[in-house]
Amino acid sequence: MRAIVASHPGDASVLQIADAPEPRPLAGEVLVDVAAVGVNFIDTYQRSGVYPVSFPFTPGLEGSGVVAEVGGAVTGFAPGDRVAWCSSLGSYAERVTVPAHALYAVPDSVDLRTAAAVTLQGLTAHFLSSSTFRLGPEHTALVHAGAGGVGLLLTQLACARGARVITTVSTEEKEALSRAAGASAVLRYDQMPDLSADLPAAVRELTNGDGVDVVYDGVGAATFDASLGSLAVRGMLVLFGGASGQVPDFNLQRLNAGGSLFVTRPSMGHYLRTEQERAWRAGEVFSAVASGELNVRVGATYPLDQAADAHRALESRGTSGKVLLLP
Ligand SMILES: NC(=O)c1ccc[n+]([C@@H]2O[C@H](COP(=O)([O-])OP(=O)(O)OC[C@H]3O[C@@H](n4cnc5c(N)ncnc54)[C@H](OP(=O)(O)O)[C@@H]3O)[C@@H](O)[C@H]2O)c1
Repeated sequence: MRAIVASHPGDASVLQIADAPEPRPLAGEVLVDVAAVGVNFIDTYQRSGVYPVSFPFTPGLEGSGVVAEVGGAVTGFAPGDRVAWCSSLGSYAERVTVPAHALYAVPDSVDLRTAAAVTLQGLTAHFLSSSTFRLGPEHTALVHAGAGGVGLLLTQLACARGARVITTVSTEEKEALSRAAGASAVLRYDQMPDLSADLPAAVRELTNGDGVDVVYDGVGAATFDASLGSLAVRGMLVLFGGASGQVPDFNLQRLNAGGSLFVTRPSMGHYLRTEQERAWRAGEVFSAVASGELNVRVGATYPLDQAADAHRALESRGTSGKVLLLP
């Protein structure tokens, strides 16, 4: 079978297609014929060495497919079942073994491409909007990269909770997508010469001078200062990623000066801790997709052997919604 292998950390060119040994399920594991692989920004951090992984390495935490075989002691899954996952490294492959506890059953009404597109980013949007900062109709949120994979889903879930959403995007096309997802105002942060002053000013103009209750910031280095400056008194900055680079150390005294602010740096694993929590979040996300309440945009698909092009597109801000690899 074929898989993408990177022999050492580096730019997208290290992602090469290779013949790999047929995986066999060990006890507690399930062998899956992969239908679609979800590409996520974290895959680029791991490939480039920003997040440590051991090389040679096959990227990919997310995918969907059909169960081919189950290992010993597996209950709850059988050959033929449709499944998805988002925390099993090595998913850029035609066949993978996944621990049974990391699998989600995909409802019949959700197709496998959509399942691969919504599992990681949908669960992320769910914990960000319902738990990290529990949004309600009394809140205004600022969501950076509003037309990205997480951005489009987070905007929809935030609006479904009654919150008012302001987003940032870098192109006209992304602006239209973000508005269609429910953003009431879309700001072009790419056109702001002094982002850390211009963005807070634009946000305050939209919020009677108050600022927003929460900023969801997955862009990181480029936006962090502007995000802090856009918060209302006692607002929360949810720094959930660093698409533009990691945020350097900063002086906690800035939280005092900014108005008793909060900063958190959440990670998906800490919001999917128990079987019950996983079932609750996945149940809500898949039901929202099945009912049509949550629209999942697949912005681009690539054959598995073009994984490097998928990474280049994601890293150059050339994508909107979800990027999938098709084995
Ligand atoms: N903490 C968690 O558990 C968790 C889980 C999932 C994702 N994440 C994080 O969420 C963020 C979004 O992930 P995603 O997979 O949905 O990606 P994405 O938002 O689809 O893609 C990243 C977007 O960030 C924006 N961006 C701004 N400056 C950029 C730069 N210098 N380089 C590249 N992109 C830039 C671009 O949108 P514009 O063109 O509109 O600027 C780009 O499309 C990432 O930081 C990711 O690590 C975190």
